Amino acid sequence: MDVTISIADDTHLQYAEEISVLMAEAAKARGTGIAERSAEYLRQKIHQGKAVIATRGTQLAGFCYIESWGHEQYVANSGLIVHPDFRRTGLAKNIKKKIFELSKKKYPHAKIFGITTSLAVMKINSELGYKPVTFSELTNDDSFWLGCKSCQNYDILQRTTRSHCLCTGMLYDPNREKQTNGNGRRWQRFKNFLKRNPTKKFKDDK
Ligand SMILES: CC(C)(COP(=O)(O)OP(=O)(O)OC[C@H]1O[C@@H](n2cnc3c(N)ncnc32)[C@H](O)[C@@H]1OP(=O)(O)O)[C@@H](O)C(=O)NCCC(=O)NCCS
Repeated sequence: MDVTISIADDTHLQYAEEISVLMAEAAKARGTGIAERSAEYLRQKIHQGKAVIATRGTQLAGFCYIESWGHEQYVANSGLIVHPDFRRTGLAKNIKKKIFELSKKKYPHAKIFGITTSLAVMKINSELGYKPVTFSELTNDDSFWLGCKSCQNYDILQRTTRSHCLCTGMLYDPNREKQTNGNGRRWQRFKNFLKRNPTKKFKDDK
């Protein structure tokens, strides 16, 4: 049976407990970089339509949710988890794509960011257009950083007054993306023009 990836709704509230346990187990197994979330918190995300869930039949396969910070100027796609039975099949990549599109639709002007120690997540984020940044480029909303409290490296973050920790910050800036696409389009128009006018001479041509 195929895995279905959908925007979570109230029919998925039943999975909140299992997702919370999966997150806690993954945090324990890796020992770093995963903030734990209560089932109640996940239920809120599901109910608000701010989560993506992957299932195969009635079996939970993966999950991720959206958080917004700093008066919705920043959005994070957090809590990415794939059930061990479904790992290394590209599922995290597809869940992330879906939540990334949902985030852009819900918050078209927000910068989308994440902090992670996971190579898999870094690879996925890079493909989506995120760039690595220092923490200074991320939201300074206290409530975001308080989410790190359940991570065992929280003391490092506190010691460095939130400027460094073991996670890498990654950011997708829609404004930068628009500029890049704008330049790309101008360059494409120029190339099309040259194709149509192959003998055109320019000022500096000899
Ligand atoms: C991290 C996690 C979500 C990856 O899920 P997944 O479905 O196995 O990932 P994908 O199959 O989509 O792989 C995406 C890419 O990462 C790579 N990758 C996956 N797991 C990896 C690992 N453990 N180490 C290194 N690379 C890994 C894949 O090879 C793939 O790379 P490619 O684009 O070069 O082919 C999953 O292992 C997990 O739930 N871990 C525990 C929770 C966690 O660490 N969450 C992230 C918190 S920030």
